[in-house]
Amino acid sequence: MKVILAKDYADMSNIAADIIEDVIKAKPSCTIGLATGSSPVGMYQELSRRCREENLDFSKIHTINLDEYVGLEPNHDQSYRHFMDENFFNHINIDKSNTFVAKGVGDPEKNLKEFNDILDKNEIEIQVLGIGPDGHLGFNEPGDVLYDKAHQEHLDESTISANARFFKNREDVPKYAFTMGMGDIMRAKRLLLLIGGNKAEAATKLLMTNTLDPHCPATFIRMHRNATVIIEQSLADVIGYKG
Ligand code: F6R
Repeated sequence: MKVILAKDYADMSNIAADIIEDVIKAKPSCTIGLATGSSPVGMYQELSRRCREENLDFSKIHTINLDEYVGLEPNHDQSYRHFMDENFFNHINIDKSNTFVAKGVGDPEKNLKEFNDILDKNEIEIQVLGIGPDGHLGFNEPGDVLYDKAHQEHLDESTISANARFFKNREDVPKYAFTMGMGDIMRAKRLLLLIGGNKAEAATKLLMTNTLDPHCPATFIRMHRNATVIIEQSLADVIGYKG
């Protein structure tokens, strides 16, 4: 696992954008795994700028998102489909029919089959990840067991609290989500994890221990042969990580 210390959020976003740009230039028609949340927003803005001003070309790129809330229509302002359109896809020259975010509404079994079929048929060149305060990856919540493939998760109270900032009331936060499984994430050829903010507990378990702990799913990243973690210096200081 390669760890890069970033000066701040902007630096982390630039370094991450450099990595994604290199992947796109090396393989202009590859499939990229994407995440929502605050961690990759700066990277999406920087990649959008490079598309606009430097002709970084997304026209043949395919994407698959990590997860989607169960029960939210794609046009709901807190759905992950909406998030991706607003924060990224509307600002780059991607063909939206090449972007996949699991459907949050309709027959759950059908939606999961569609999600798993897409994952089975496509090799993810690089998977972008954020980390939950509880150590989740995608919405693979801590527990005694982790799941291989795409499935429905019951969100932890700490995840609901963390995501409540985007909703009017805490009660409006969906309790369930569809997510890639840990196996799906580990099968990506490369992982790119962005860590900043209030993730001290999870970052400590990932960077300062030697355990693979299903109660902190992010620790499994250590098993991946081509994983890059970018951590903001301020968080590294809090947990005492020196590199
Ligand atoms: C988002 C996702 C989540 C987030 C994580 C961190 O698609 O799968 O695992 O990456 O909850 O969220 P932020 O970046 O908002 O701190």
